Amino acid sequence: MMSYKGDLMNDANIVLIGFMGTGKTTIGKIVSKRLDRRFIDTDRYIEEKYDMPIKDIFKYYGEDYFRELERRVVEDISSYKKAVISTGGGIILQDCNIDKLKEKGIIFLLEGSIDTIQSNLQNSRHERPLLNEVCWTSKVKVLLNERNDRYKASADVIINIDNKSPNEISEEVISYISGK
Ligand code: S3P
Repeated sequence: MMSYKGDLMNDANIVLIGFMGTGKTTIGKIVSKRLDRRFIDTDRYIEEKYDMPIKDIFKYYGEDYFRELERRVVEDISSYKKAVISTGGGIILQDCNIDKLKEKGIIFLLEGSIDTIQSNLQNSRHERPLLNEVCWTSKVKVLLNERNDRYKASADVIINIDNKSPNEISEEVISYISGK
């Protein structure tokens, strides 16, 4: 496996992982603009490639099928260089995704408290098929508990997002990548 640490860090993809509502897409867009790099969001990529909203993929084909599309998309994009890649919250559920993304990327975990995550999701949870239920706050807790170890084990760098603006979080990512 090639390592992009050290001298080659400038060529590495910046890969953002984390739970739903941690701001991966927002931060990815800011970082890609500031560094003038290509931006890819795996969910948008899936929607465009398969011409269907994520919601409908879950509804008509189920979660397992979505995970298969997610895996294929990671394969498609993992050979990129110098890209900023925002991933769906479940990308860590398949080891092969993280193995692929690590080959040419540095994995940044955006990590927040349950309060931050729930408040960020308050208005957008209806767009997330896994949270489209009355007791969505309990579902957030259950999923976070199930996934936390995987998020941590997958990360090269962990960035806490609590009480920080998107610009502040983006600056932390950029500082790391530029070796500051
Ligand atoms: C999912 C997160 C979503 C999307 C899908 C499943 C998950 O992406 O991929 O609804 O399993 O956590 P965001 O993290 O961008 O909301």
